[in-house]
Amino acid sequence: MTPGREVQVRLFEGDREVLRPLFREADDSEQGIDAYLPLGDIFVAEESGEVVGQLQLVGEGEEVELKSMAVAEERRGGGVGRMLVAAALRSCRERGVRRITVSTAAADTGNLRFYQRQGFRMLSIERDVFGPEAGYPDGIVIDGIPLRDRVWLDQEL
Ligand SMILES: CC(C)(COP(=O)(O)OP(=O)(O)OC[C@H]1O[C@@H](n2cnc3c(N)ncnc32)[C@H](O)[C@@H]1OP(=O)(O)O)[C@@H](O)C(=O)NCCC(=O)NCCS
Repeated sequence: MTPGREVQVRLFEGDREVLRPLFREADDSEQGIDAYLPLGDIFVAEESGEVVGQLQLVGEGEEVELKSMAVAEERRGGGVGRMLVAAALRSCRERGVRRITVSTAAADTGNLRFYQRQGFRMLSIERDVFGPEAGYPDGIVIDGIPLRDRVWLDQEL
C-alpha cells in the first residue's frame, strides 16, 4: 500500500466481469468462477478509485460462506485483505449472521495462516476435490505441495 493513500471498502454494484481477473487470483477453475461469480455480495477495497481487492459472501440467513477473496498482487501484505475480512465480518454481524465459513486448498499454507489470523478455525477436510472434473488442470503444485485437498474453516460471530 502506498503511504498516505487511503483504502476504502464498499459494496460493489457494478459489472462483476471487471472483477474476474481478481477472482482468477483466488481460483484456478474458470468453471468454478462462472458458477459463483453472480452470487451473493461482493465487497471491494479501493485505493484512489482503483479496485485493489475483492471479497465475496454467499448465503442467506444465519450462515454465510466467504466464497472468494483476492488482493492485487502488488498490494498484498499491506493489510488490504485484513480490512476486507473485517468489513465482511462487520456486515455479517449487522445482518444477524451467526457463522461464517471459508475453504481453501490444503496446499496453500499462506492462506491457512491468513484465515486463522482473521479468527477462523479449522473445521474439516475434503480430499481430492481439486481435480479436472471441477475444472482444475492436473499437476498444479503450490509451494511443492500438490493441489488436491480442501480445508474448511469457520468462525462463530
Ligand atoms: C490471501 C490474501 C487475500 C491476503 O490479502 P493481503 O492483503 O495480502 O493480506 P494482509 O496484508 O491483510 O495480511 C494480513 C496478515 O496475514 C499475512 N499474510 C497474508 N497473506 C499471507 C500469505 N499468503 N502467506 C503468509 N502470510 C500471509 C500478512 O503478512 C499479514 O500479517 P500481519 O498480521 O503480521 O501483518 C492475498 O494474499 C491474496 O490475494 N492471495 C491470492 C489469492 C488467494 O489465494 N485468495 C484466497 C483464496 S481461498
